[in-house]
Amino acid sequence: MSIFIPQTLRARVIVMKNLLKYPNLKKTDPEIAGINTSEEKRQFLYANFIASENYASPAVREASSSVATNKYSEGYPSKRYYKGNDVAIDPVEILAQKRALKLFQLDEEQWGVNVQPASGSEANMAVYGSLLKAKGQNEDIALGMRLDFGGHLTHGFHVSFSGKFFHFEQYGLDKSGRINYEEIEILAQKFQPKLIVCGASAYSRVVEFDKFGAIAKKYGALLMADIAHIAGLIAGGVHPSPFPHCDIVTTTTHKTLRGPRGAMIFARKDKTLETASKTSPLNRNLNSKKQKSLFDLINSGVFPGLQGGPHNQQTMAIAVCLKEADTSKFRNYASRVVKNAEILADELVKCGFSIVSGGTDNHLMLLDLRPFQVNGEDVSQWLYLAGIVTNKNAVPNDPLPPQQASGIRLGTPAMTTRGMGPKEMKMFAKWIHSAVTDHSDKNLENIKKRVRDLCKNFPPPGF
Ligand SMILES: Cc1ncc(COP(=O)(O)O)c(C=O)c1O
Repeated sequence: MSIFIPQTLRARVIVMKNLLKYPNLKKTDPEIAGINTSEEKRQFLYANFIASENYASPAVREASSSVATNKYSEGYPSKRYYKGNDVAIDPVEILAQKRALKLFQLDEEQWGVNVQPASGSEANMAVYGSLLKAKGQNEDIALGMRLDFGGHLTHGFHVSFSGKFFHFEQYGLDKSGRINYEEIEILAQKFQPKLIVCGASAYSRVVEFDKFGAIAKKYGALLMADIAHIAGLIAGGVHPSPFPHCDIVTTTTHKTLRGPRGAMIFARKDKTLETASKTSPLNRNLNSKKQKSLFDLINSGVFPGLQGGPHNQQTMAIAVCLKEADTSKFRNYASRVVKNAEILADELVKCGFSIVSGGTDNHLMLLDLRPFQVNGEDVSQWLYLAGIVTNKNAVPNDPLPPQQASGIRLGTPAMTTRGMGPKEMKMFAKWIHSAVTDHSDKNLENIKKRVRDLCKNFPPPGF
């Protein structure tokens, strides 16, 4: 067998490093090792503009494949159902909690955090299950943002558990593409919701948590912010914090926060609720008709309400990412993410693209492709052929079905992690425009070559 030896020293080093990687996986399961190597190559050579993805650091990846994966630990620190959690699992979970509270500048007397949910959807499920009486049983009402206006599936969409099991009323955007706070107030007055959910998956403007807080207070609702997308921006000080206005905050850890796949739920310790429902699917403690803090309710909703043992290797990696995020380097990263998004959006507008709400204040933007008479499915495929990874996305009042969609969503967290800046954002705006207006094989192949050459100079961390 002959080994290809590339010309440049840098390329030779990469080939050598790859030969030494994953020795056990290569030996035990060459098929999976091969697939993994291909994926690593794809992540290296393609430009990732998916707003919800990022590249976790080598330290985060090491923690998430650590021996913590071997341990079962149903319950919470010092209240476990299995022995053997005292050495690593309890200290790691406590450290992750402390770091999370410190990162978001929260007082341990007022706030608690549960770091166990496996994903953002599960975190949201745990909150609803802990607090809301389900549909058909003297049901509580919640408000959430419509999926096609930028909300998430788990904010009440009818095919998700949230809309199937719980009564959600949905709000959207106003004509300028901003959250329609007037509509939210009208809905709150009409439905007297128990819970208002704010936060989004495809909204490029600042979420005005203070406005949500004022409405929730006026109508006696609990306020939950889902900051899955913007957690890293909040930690980095470039988006207002929801905590002064909210009772509960959920987040994923793998988007702008740049950690492993995972989630956290922050809940107030200093707010209590009468636990009187027989009907909540996740929390049998609600039968006991006594005052419990929101944090205690949420903890019972996660375990035993929703899951058994937590994913300890993930908790360990979350602890590492929280340490990384509490640095001036990360704060600098967060502001570069926003700057890059602003430049990308401005350049795309100059090329004739229309952006929902006219621009961006955060890490993402939603391109409305209707002026080009193309759809999101086609455009995301052309871009993929040109080496640029994005996702199709519905735009407000989208005439097309979600499988096609009239928009694409673009985000800058991943390419900012790779060190790209304003110059590269301008290049990508031109390439995106070129691929949309000329999707001949020749043009897409030509762009792909240039994207690859650029990507080779900006390797993801640890590659
Ligand atoms: C706002 C919001 N909440 C929740 C989630 C769900 O996260 P997960 O995919 O980890 O379940 C997402 C995922 O994209 C999201 O954007």
